[in-house]
Amino acid sequence: MRRRIIAGNWKMNMTKAEAKQFMADFLPLCKDAKCDTVLCVPFTDIHRVYKLAIGSNVKVGAQNVAWADKGAFTGEISAEMLKEVGAEYVIIGHSERRAYFGETDETVNMRTKQALKNGLKPIVCVGETLDQREGGKTEEVLANQVKKGLEGITEEVIIAYEPVWAIGTGKTATPEMANETIGFIRSVAQPLVGDVSILYGGSMNAANAQSLLNMEHIDGGLIGGASLKPNDFSVIVNCD
Ligand code: 13P
Repeated sequence: MRRRIIAGNWKMNMTKAEAKQFMADFLPLCKDAKCDTVLCVPFTDIHRVYKLAIGSNVKVGAQNVAWADKGAFTGEISAEMLKEVGAEYVIIGHSERRAYFGETDETVNMRTKQALKNGLKPIVCVGETLDQREGGKTEEVLANQVKKGLEGITEEVIIAYEPVWAIGTGKTATPEMANETIGFIRSVAQPLVGDVSILYGGSMNAANAQSLLNMEHIDGGLIGGASLKPNDFSVIVNCD
């Protein structure tokens, strides 16, 4: 089912004290938000943010999940562990994990299945690089990421389209370009997983969020930098 979902991705930011301050500032600003508001925070912040969010409309997510139940997987965190500390969502296959930590469509697929098996809501990330876009490969790359990442999956997932060239660069895709590309992703994903929510991510901020969210195919946002600022993030969650 398509829903407006606004998810912050804190990436590797926010100490204990900073997370506490963020929640104190942000919660009063988002109490009337009508979207599903999610904060995907570092593992070490999950339980704290979860506890601070009790009684609010804010849900908590992680930024990765192991594909196995338990065992010899040094450095990984299991779905059961994430649920135990309050996570409800999990980002899978972010381009930074693909670029720096060897994430592939196959591992994305395994992690997504594991999240679903354990009742976590996966936010599966796809996106093309600048070279791929300029080389006319955008649709081929995205179709591959979607088909391989979701192979064998029929349950509801959330997809985030994050063009790599727009992440942290201040270069946002135009609403029209993002809409067209997400429309294409929808045409590939729909036969597999049905009518899912597809988010846009990449330099989305308080100034450009409404124009992106107005577009037909853009159901919500996955926000990095602007999700670290309570005022900016609250503008986005309160968009019409
Ligand atoms: P920015 O909003 O900082 O460009 O990051 C986007 C992103 O990667 C969210 O997952």
